Amino acid sequence: MSSPAANIPQHVAIIMDGNGRWAKQRGLPRIEGHRRGVETVRTVTFAARDLGVRMLTLYAFSNENWKRPQDEVGALMGLLEFYLKKELDTFVRDRVRFRTVGRTDELPEGVQKQLRRTTEETKCFTDYTLVLALNYGSRTEMVDAARAYAAAVAAGKEKLNDSSWATFSRYLYTADMPEPDLVIRTSGEMRISNFLLLQAAYAEFIFTPVLWPDFTKADLAAAIADYNRRERRFGQTSEQLKPAPASK
Ligand code: FPP
Repeated sequence: MSSPAANIPQHVAIIMDGNGRWAKQRGLPRIEGHRRGVETVRTVTFAARDLGVRMLTLYAFSNENWKRPQDEVGALMGLLEFYLKKELDTFVRDRVRFRTVGRTDELPEGVQKQLRRTTEETKCFTDYTLVLALNYGSRTEMVDAARAYAAAVAAGKEKLNDSSWATFSRYLYTADMPEPDLVIRTSGEMRISNFLLLQAAYAEFIFTPVLWPDFTKADLAAAIADYNRRERRFGQTSEQLKPAPASK
């Protein structure tokens, strides 16, 4: 574990990008890039924990990714199911809690079954959580939250006049999760692509040119070191955040 004095982001969220370009550079089919991407998922899951991170969220499949060629979508779903089956024992042995955000009920039944199993069998672990964003998009999440909130108001469980971020955010997929402190995007693209738009309101962002299959523990450690050098002000001034001088 890292020194407790270091300012480690408790929740790191990553937009894993560049699998396709990694494959293209090598004259390989795109799915080879995704296969190598899964290896990086394994490495980074444990690297983050070693570095002191408590929660890692990975953007694995967006609402928009269904528009990719059908063979690529099918291959990604196959990889996901295989990954979940293979990782379950490791998660249990290494005490990794697994959960998801997104409309997982629209994923293939085989994937849903593995997701239920992995979530259920790891729900007792509390020290470290891996979250996969699957069939996720912030706009869909907003719509789902608004619907659930409206239903709660209609049922008399919430009062419209008392609406606040604190009450509304309980209806997001991330209701019981801390907000991300650090969002990383690989592959040199500098956009957020409908990922945790509300939750990342005060997150720090790091964009690295490294393609996801090449991303290593050292790259993650470098991102955390960069995060450490930043001052998070949450709307306040730098002076307000400095500790008051000790009185004589
Ligand atoms: C972006 O690369 C990556 C994705 C759309 C999906 C990420 C998926 C994986 C890492 C593999 C599956 C994950 C799990 C957890 C089993 P891209 O294809 O958009 O790359 P490009 O922009 O270079 O084309």
